[in-house]
Amino acid sequence: MLNNIFNFTISNTIDYVPEQIIDFFSKKYVAGTSLSDAVKTTVDLNSKGIMSTIDVLGESVYNEDQTIFFRNECIKVLETIKKESLNANLSLKPTQMGLAINKALCYENIRKIVKRAKELDNFVRIDMENSPYTSDTLKMYKLLREEFPGHVGTVLQAYLRRTVDDIDKLSDKDLNIRLCKGIYMESYKIAYKNPEIINENYIYCLEKLFENKAYVGIATHDEKLIFHAMKLIRKYNLQPNEYEFQMLLGIGEKLRDFILAKKHRLRIYVPYGKEWLSYVRRRLKENPNIIKTALGL
Ligand code: FDA
Repeated sequence: MLNNIFNFTISNTIDYVPEQIIDFFSKKYVAGTSLSDAVKTTVDLNSKGIMSTIDVLGESVYNEDQTIFFRNECIKVLETIKKESLNANLSLKPTQMGLAINKALCYENIRKIVKRAKELDNFVRIDMENSPYTSDTLKMYKLLREEFPGHVGTVLQAYLRRTVDDIDKLSDKDLNIRLCKGIYMESYKIAYKNPEIINENYIYCLEKLFENKAYVGIATHDEKLIFHAMKLIRKYNLQPNEYEFQMLLGIGEKLRDFILAKKHRLRIYVPYGKEWLSYVRRRLKENPNIIKTALGL
């Protein structure tokens, strides 16, 4: 009971906690402020047989020049991955590329990045943000998948009521999806709120994706979901190169070894950059226990 009250209070006040305090927790979830930090983290992960997806932190960009800055930085990430022979790809956020201000600009920015990924034989994952952007993100994904098959994927969120239908609509071509629960605040009308229903929908969507021969990034630290995913992988007799597990930096470290020991592939999301505040706040809201542990409570 007390624990629930504590978690509820933290989740609802974290937006007002000063940046200096949040910074203390950023070390856990963020590789650092520069690309060389993300490279260092990736080299370390690769040495343990783990792949990474590098993310330049930044979202909700309302300035066109800033979207160009992020576009160039993403291209630099792809070029650095090639130069350093890293086992890594790139994740990016549509609002970082301008989706909140100019859809055409956003599409052109992402297209240039995916084009460069193709030239470098790499891959770009378009993260999924909150529901006002879902349809546009899927539209962009469909167009890019036509032009650059095999070099682009996106994300679906099991908490959204629409996700099962989205899988049907997207399954007419090769599909590359990261499946996660979903992290943004959404209304009851749009999203399931009950954690058990979200989990059931996750498994239902995962099976539907496997049935439709999608390549899935199974993105979760939930042991129950990982257990069910492994059962489905066996049921569909999938080979290790036909899916991957994915986790966030700083979370579920014990589970990593378990997944690797079972010979599954694992990719860690490695964010870096100066704009870490929103990302770390989201992570802390998600798990207020981290704060409790740090305070020795
Ligand atoms: P759940 O939240 O139930 O957590 C399971 C367990 O993991 C917890 O009991 C705890 O032990 C641990 N844990 C979870 N969060 C933690 C935290 N912050 N700190 C410490 N421990 C924690 N979402 C989205 O909307 N769009 C996106 O594009 C992405 N992208 C993405 C990429 C990758 C690689 C991952 C793994 C996740 C995302 N997400 C995301 C986030 C996702 O939607 C979800 O919010 C988190 O993964 C947490 O959900 P779990 O499935 O891990 O379950």
